[in-house]
Amino acid sequence: MGEKAKVVAVINQKGGVGKTTIAHNLSAAFVARGQRVLVIDLDSQGHLTRGLGLWHLFEREGAPSLYHSLADRKKQYPLADAIQEHPIEKFSVVPSNYEMALADRELNQQRDREHKLRHIMEPVLGNYDWVILDTPPYLTPTSDNAINASRRLLIPVEADGKSLGGLELQLNQIEGIEIELSIYIAILAIVPNRVEDTRESADMLTLLRSNFPYVAPFDLRKRTLLAQAWTARRSIYTFEPRGSSQERTRTELVAAYDALADLVTSRYAEEDARDR
Ligand SMILES: Nc1ncnc2c1ncn2[C@@H]1O[C@H](COP(=O)(O)OP(=O)(O)OP(=O)(O)O)[C@@H](O)[C@H]1O
Ligand SMILES: [Mg+2]
Repeated sequence: MGEKAKVVAVINQKGGVGKTTIAHNLSAAFVARGQRVLVIDLDSQGHLTRGLGLWHLFEREGAPSLYHSLADRKKQYPLADAIQEHPIEKFSVVPSNYEMALADRELNQQRDREHKLRHIMEPVLGNYDWVILDTPPYLTPTSDNAINASRRLLIPVEADGKSLGGLELQLNQIEGIEIELSIYIAILAIVPNRVEDTRESADMLTLLRSNFPYVAPFDLRKRTLLAQAWTARRSIYTFEPRGSSQERTRTELVAAYDALADLVTSRYAEEDARDR
């Protein structure tokens, strides 16, 4: 047991912007540098759980699950009971479970509902350097819990015209929670994802950077290798490339995710110094 883990939520109420891909690969990036990582799948769709090859746990009945720790009023197991060790990625995982579909309704009926995740995570924080939260694409009590439990956010966005309005909405939600709970929430970075070599992409990046603070100084390119790694149930750190072209792309993606891990680390330290 040492210092408490740094908690980061990957969040955006817009669907399909890369939250799960980033939660998975950023966690792998920290493992690659020798850090102890716990990743929690808060999405009732269980995409991350599936991508990690843990679908049987999503469908498992009866065993202690995230739902029981977070929202169930009858069976409140400690979160530790739901933690799995991933044999390949070498991080710990709290998988989602089909019962998570009930979590928001349950949480809505509870007092202190935005604080539940923060409370149940507390006993395990000493075991990790990082806790990464993958969140659902909705503005719900579950995502409020992720925001409050982390207070440090990573917001992936797509570099297209439709993203900016959604981003505004997300930032408003964050500000609302900040005021309501009287807490300080830091956006570690807005991360342009799936960026292409087109004029439209370049224009949107310029617009994004001139309108929003904390946009990452680099972007994550659109690369089909990420989807191939996903299908192979691997992060790009553990994916075994076939051929020199895949190897080159993998090296490029690893460099991008290493840069993201560096940025998250340095922004976290900056914000903690400010939030004393
Ligand atoms: N940089 C990228 N290049 C190419 N494909 C990508 C990239 N990032 C993500 N994808 C793909 O885009 C799809 C959506 O990504 P992902 O599931 O991570 O988004 P999400 O925000 O978690 O979605 P949801 O809101 O449904 O949870 C996936 O098929 C993923 O493999
Ligand atoms: Mg997702």
